[in-house]
Amino acid sequence: MLVDTHIHLADDAYLDILDEVIEEARGRFKSIIVSGVDYKTSLDAIRLAERYDFLYASIGLHPQEVTKLENLAWIKELAKHEKVIAIGEIGLDYYWDEQYKDFQKELFIKQIKIANELDLPVVVHSRSAHQDTFDILKTHKTKGVLHCYSGSVELAREYTKLGYYIGIGGVVTFKNAKTIKEVVSDIDLKYLLTETDGPYLTPHPYRGKVNRPIYIEYVISEIAKLKNKTKNEIEEKIYNNYLELFGGTNEEI
Ligand code: NI
Repeated sequence: MLVDTHIHLADDAYLDILDEVIEEARGRFKSIIVSGVDYKTSLDAIRLAERYDFLYASIGLHPQEVTKLENLAWIKELAKHEKVIAIGEIGLDYYWDEQYKDFQKELFIKQIKIANELDLPVVVHSRSAHQDTFDILKTHKTKGVLHCYSGSVELAREYTKLGYYIGIGGVVTFKNAKTIKEVVSDIDLKYLLTETDGPYLTPHPYRGKVNRPIYIEYVISEIAKLKNKTKNEIEEKIYNNYLELFGGTNEEI
């Protein structure tokens, strides 16, 4: 069974194709985690998860949404919902928002603390902020996944030493994506997870189109190639990893 640990299904890109995208994944996917980036989209993620048995929600405040310090009481409130199985996406993004670095850091740490309090894993976004993200996740120990990991092999090793998982998406299928291919080859399979980050980062040969969970088949194929294992072996292992991280939280999965 396949798992998609990160997708923005409430995004407008899916408005007209949502049922189709979900139905084509039915029976093939054990779980699709719909991610919010603020209060509204977190609520949207929960609403979607209510409609489909194999959809779950991840709620939180994305670093790109941070422009001031905010009251995060809504996260604890929404997390009471039985289909909320993670806090995210949260993290640091200096690519878009260099000026709010300190707010980003503070809100990231606050959300890690909330996740720990609720015993939920975190789904972490890190862009152009690799060292700061690592430092925070090292100091404020929690469990979680580095979603759409884009750092170095060395840093990935450091993360796995701390027990964090590495999220692999469509980028690994791109011909020139040398580093992430190296990461997949190097890192123990027990730390890898699969995701779309849809609607973005669609794997080859659909690059440029709206991403769909079903395209994770291409990510699995690439991981199998790099690991010199069968697709079934990869799929099974990644599903087990998923259970290790997200299982036994709010819901028996
Ligand atoms: Ni995302």
